[in-house]
Amino acid sequence: MSDFKCEKVLPYADGGSKTKQITEMFDHIAGQYDRMNRLMSLGQDRTWRRRAIEALCAYYPKRVMDVATGTGDFAIAVAERLKPERVLGVDLSAEMMNVGRKKVAERGLSGVVSFEQGDSTLLRQEDASFDAVTVAFGVRNFSGIEKGLSEISRVLTSNGVLVILEMTEPSNPMYRLGYKIYTKLCLPVMARLFAKDLKAYDYLPASIQAFPKDDEMRQILKKCGFQSVEINKFTMQTCSLYLACK
Ligand SMILES: C[S@@+](CC[C@H](N)C(=O)[O-])C[C@H]1O[C@@H](n2cnc3c(N)ncnc32)[C@H](O)[C@@H]1O
Repeated sequence: MSDFKCEKVLPYADGGSKTKQITEMFDHIAGQYDRMNRLMSLGQDRTWRRRAIEALCAYYPKRVMDVATGTGDFAIAVAERLKPERVLGVDLSAEMMNVGRKKVAERGLSGVVSFEQGDSTLLRQEDASFDAVTVAFGVRNFSGIEKGLSEISRVLTSNGVLVILEMTEPSNPMYRLGYKIYTKLCLPVMARLFAKDLKAYDYLPASIQAFPKDDEMRQILKKCGFQSVEINKFTMQTCSLYLACK
């Protein structure tokens, strides 16, 4: 397995492995995650998830796993729009999933959406047990990107499909300038005004910057067992959608 730059970007200077730090960080910010996410994405996060689900519509998946499910927004949206038999949300952070469980109960989706604590790089699920896997804003946080994507490929059926949403640095110079202004000026101000854990919002742009660029990501997905990879960009190239089929 190769090493990638973003695997070495950590939220805290000391305090153990990336997995441990990521779990602690999301446990810590769980209560304010949804609000901060909406604010910092300028309300775009819902649109991005909706576009990702549209990409899945043609596959009619019955069993879906939402890896790095967090507070469950992607799992809930998949359940409401695609009407699968079941959606399993898997995440390192128990606190994030506790927020998700409440939202699932409020929407009457407890019979479809369930949660389980787990690490994408060591999934407990059986081979070929899901028709589709979704990951929104999670891959950047994996301690091992190839390990996590290989595990996802393992649990997918032979014609299974993976949809990844990830924040990315724009390659277009004009968009890039706008993105830099936003992350260097606006994001720190918002974090100082509203966030509980400032380090979490320093980690965000640092991990986005270190995330593999399009061609590298395409190669990684192919190495991990996906035959075809389609990449689409949204909102001035700040969010990428990867649709990968086995
Ligand atoms: C930025 S949040 C995204 C949450 C959600 N998918 C969304 O769309 O809002 C990232 C989540 O990934 C989880 N995560 C990071 N690395 C993980 C891993 N290796 N296995 C499972 N979950 C992981 C974190 O605990 C956190 O809840």
